[in-house]
Amino acid sequence: MRAGAAVGGAPFMQSRGYGPYAFDNDGRRYIDYIMAYGPLLFGHAHPPLVSGLDVLAASGSVFGSTHDNELRLAQRIAAYVPSVQQLRFVSSGTEAVMSAVRVARAFTGRPLLLRFAGNYHGHFDAALFGAGASAHAMLVPESGIPAGTAADVIVARYNDPSSVDALLAGRAHQLAAILVEPVAANMGLVLPQTGFLNALRARADAVGALLIFDEVVTWLRLGLGGAQTMLGVAPDLTTFGKAMGGGFPLAAFGGRADVMESVAPSGCAFTGGTFSGNPFCIALGHRVLDLIENDETLYPRMDERAQRLAAGLRSVLQEVGFDYAVTQLGSMVDFKFRAGSAVTNYDQALESDGERFATYYHAMREGGVLLAPSRNELMFLSSVHGDEEIDETIEAARVALRRVRNRTLG
Ligand SMILES: Cc1ncc(COP(=O)(O)O)c(C=O)c1O
Repeated sequence: MRAGAAVGGAPFMQSRGYGPYAFDNDGRRYIDYIMAYGPLLFGHAHPPLVSGLDVLAASGSVFGSTHDNELRLAQRIAAYVPSVQQLRFVSSGTEAVMSAVRVARAFTGRPLLLRFAGNYHGHFDAALFGAGASAHAMLVPESGIPAGTAADVIVARYNDPSSVDALLAGRAHQLAAILVEPVAANMGLVLPQTGFLNALRARADAVGALLIFDEVVTWLRLGLGGAQTMLGVAPDLTTFGKAMGGGFPLAAFGGRADVMESVAPSGCAFTGGTFSGNPFCIALGHRVLDLIENDETLYPRMDERAQRLAAGLRSVLQEVGFDYAVTQLGSMVDFKFRAGSAVTNYDQALESDGERFATYYHAMREGGVLLAPSRNELMFLSSVHGDEEIDETIEAARVALRRVRNRTLG
């Protein structure tokens, strides 16, 4: 992703970040919508998050023992996410999802994992077939993924329960878990259609499998209860990451107590991690929750700014004559270079025009706006993206989209 292969040209080299801004090696300032691919809910180097870190580290940055703050953070999370009765901390989203899948397989005693094309769950083997983001793993020896792994992974179409049924025909009794991003953020922003997540809940229940929500992006982006609270569907297991560490590596997986009992030492499913639950990142996790709890207007404010950006993009797109749908949820905004209504699955997302996106990406960069260099990504706002930055972004988009149009016509 960072190499920028999808858009060509030299990769963006960043020297520092502050607030809503990224700076390149020449000190030029860009309004940053990568936001580290999600974690920076409060922007770069937010003072309440990055002050006093030397004091924090002075009492030990990693113990190898458990500690009160770890237990307290688990309790705070569980209080906001009722489907989570027990939880274990890890250091990355990849570890969180990989561990949740292992626990689901251990609990059910079954091998099969059902996932969705265009979702991304990290870079462990089973997660990569049909994955979104910048992962394009194929089953060839060069990918490093053994063919045997593919035998126990099936990849369905997002927002299409009938594709789930078709793929499960004759294999439902082997199904350990359905793993899904409840709001998909790795093929651009794709919202779950009404009834989709409920249908997955029902399918999992009907065949004695578990439902895993990957909330690595959505928890805290969409509020303290995550997508599951917003959408009213409870999974058996949930994975957390990104925003929870306030820009530091902290992630977790958790869920039903009877399922989590499968984790060693109470059960046989082993998970580890030298840095798991380290006191430094756990303290950052507390700071993040403190900041959210003490700012009632945080989510409405971010939502309002994201709506302002989405509305601005809609009007600029209309102005240049592109019939592209703009999608927004909370602090996430996206549009695809594809005519018609909003994308609902990965097949549609892949219809978007990569060449137009590349022109747009570079024109935005010239205009002082940093986007992720891939049409599979979306724009992440933070609490410090203000009206001024939004208006500057819309103006840059006007210039960039005109250039795309002129190139297309010319
Ligand atoms: C939904 C989702 N799950 C899991 C991951 C993997 O997280 P990490 O990169 O921290 O390993 C990502 C990363 O982008 C993600 O978007």
